[in-house]
Amino acid sequence: MREFATFEERLSAWMTEAMQSVFDLSDAEVNLGVSPTNNEKFGDYQCNAAMVLSKQLKKAPREIAQQFVEAAELPEFIEKIEIAGPGFINFFLTNRALSEYIQLLEKDAHLGSEQVGEGKKVIIDYSSPNVAKSMHIGHIRSTVIGNAIDRLYRFLGYEVIADNHLGDWGTQFGLMLVGYREFVNEEALAAAPVEELERIYVASYNKSKEDDSWRDLAKSELVKLQQGNEENRKLWEKFIELSIGEFNKIYDRLDVKFDLYRGESFYNDRLPKMIQALEDKDLAVESDGALIVDLEEDGMPICIVRKSDGGYNYATTDLATVESRQEEFDPERIIYVTDERQQLHFKQFFKIAEKLEMEANLVHVWFGLMRLPEATFSTREGNVIKLSALLDEAESRALDMVKSSSPDMPEDQQKDLAKAIGIGAIKYTDLSQNPQSLVTFTWEKALNMEGNSAPYLQYAYARISSVYDKWKTQFPDMELNECSLNIEHKIERRLAIKLSRFSAAVRAAADNYRPNIMADYLYDLAQIYSSFYQNVPFLKAEEGVRESRIRLCRSTARTLKQGLNLLGIETRERI
Ligand code: ARG
Repeated sequence: MREFATFEERLSAWMTEAMQSVFDLSDAEVNLGVSPTNNEKFGDYQCNAAMVLSKQLKKAPREIAQQFVEAAELPEFIEKIEIAGPGFINFFLTNRALSEYIQLLEKDAHLGSEQVGEGKKVIIDYSSPNVAKSMHIGHIRSTVIGNAIDRLYRFLGYEVIADNHLGDWGTQFGLMLVGYREFVNEEALAAAPVEELERIYVASYNKSKEDDSWRDLAKSELVKLQQGNEENRKLWEKFIELSIGEFNKIYDRLDVKFDLYRGESFYNDRLPKMIQALEDKDLAVESDGALIVDLEEDGMPICIVRKSDGGYNYATTDLATVESRQEEFDPERIIYVTDERQQLHFKQFFKIAEKLEMEANLVHVWFGLMRLPEATFSTREGNVIKLSALLDEAESRALDMVKSSSPDMPEDQQKDLAKAIGIGAIKYTDLSQNPQSLVTFTWEKALNMEGNSAPYLQYAYARISSVYDKWKTQFPDMELNECSLNIEHKIERRLAIKLSRFSAAVRAAADNYRPNIMADYLYDLAQIYSSFYQNVPFLKAEEGVRESRIRLCRSTARTLKQGLNLLGIETRERI
């Protein structure tokens, strides 16, 4: 058993062994896990082994449980076990074991999280906006959710390669090239590059609808680009550079970093070979001049891999991308984060990759689109949702809050705090929901100081840290690590149990690609802390008890900070 093994791990291992020794289960494959309870009436952990084994042992569950409880020799960290309901076995931890575990966690850099990713690589393909277009709400969610998954995996010891798979190739660049030469407004381009590029595209597109010669010109410029014409190539590179410059401003504000910015174009050279591989395996067939993969047997529509004009499709690029990533990085997994509208695309090319025997472990993490009601913006520019405007507004609303709650704080500190709160509020709204459910964004909820929001957790963190600071000022000669931590009070116990479950929350959030599991954990933790704070004295408690409680506070603050960091949300000590 590893040093920081959770009670859940220890109990599950013990349970399997003890069951095997009480009953004759030697040749049966048994793995009898326990799960945390949410109601301390039923103990701290619960096991349904008696139900699971009932058939095999030909006995009623309660009878099995009874026999087990009488015969089993309890491990020292268990106070007692009880039978409940149809045959559940409930476990109560000893206060001493809990106290010791919290002290052990204090020493672990990963707060008890097993480094399950050590020596393993994962590629996370997220954000991935399209060049010359503003990021839409789908890219924003992909950025925030993808980055939380990125942080969770790194925390578990994985080597993460965050890859921004930019949409930097496709027929739209023909229209961009001719449009730029005709319509560019240099001043506008310098002021707001992506906006101007977008305007150029729309103007060029509209012109192509009315003017056949314009359309033909766009096509021939595209062919020139594809053939490597230097002038077109340069202009295209400029579009990319300008776009990445704009995207990076947003990533900076969101504190998101990528290891790679490999656009679709990076994989161009591989496309013909990919088609060849599909043909060699008899997976692709001609149909009306196009090349398709028939996926009917797999319950999916056909997938076009080469259009009748010879152009390649999104799926073809993604297949070539997988091949390249496998060759270069040999990752244990590739995780893609996009909105729900791309589910079919991913299912299709995952299936084709499987048929090609690429042996890649591919996961699509999809999320529903968040609704941003009209009223979200007090200033609305155009009809595209501008992320920068959303972030500006979040910061300015947060600044109002900070100014009224901390009027005496120096202004630069107020601004810094407002940034942490405003950006945190946007991220947390995104991350605290089940990614697949529909979310409507409102400022009231995002910035709600009393509810499940980033500011609520950030304030809780600052308050908790200040408890330790106050203690330190009052008792400068005491060394907290030398004072013992003793869990006694029911509410201390509740808090300690929650702290001991941090690593399980990290694992569950990462394994299920659901940062909201971490958000829920943190919100629960803050609420338990708050009843702890209201129900027992800290600084006014007698010596010994006081130090023990301050230590629990310190652990709570550290856990909150780490958890928020995994969601990409900053904390400040002073609020
Ligand atoms: N650029 C695409 C879009 O904006 C998202 C790309 C997602 N990643 C991928 N490998 N297909 O819709």
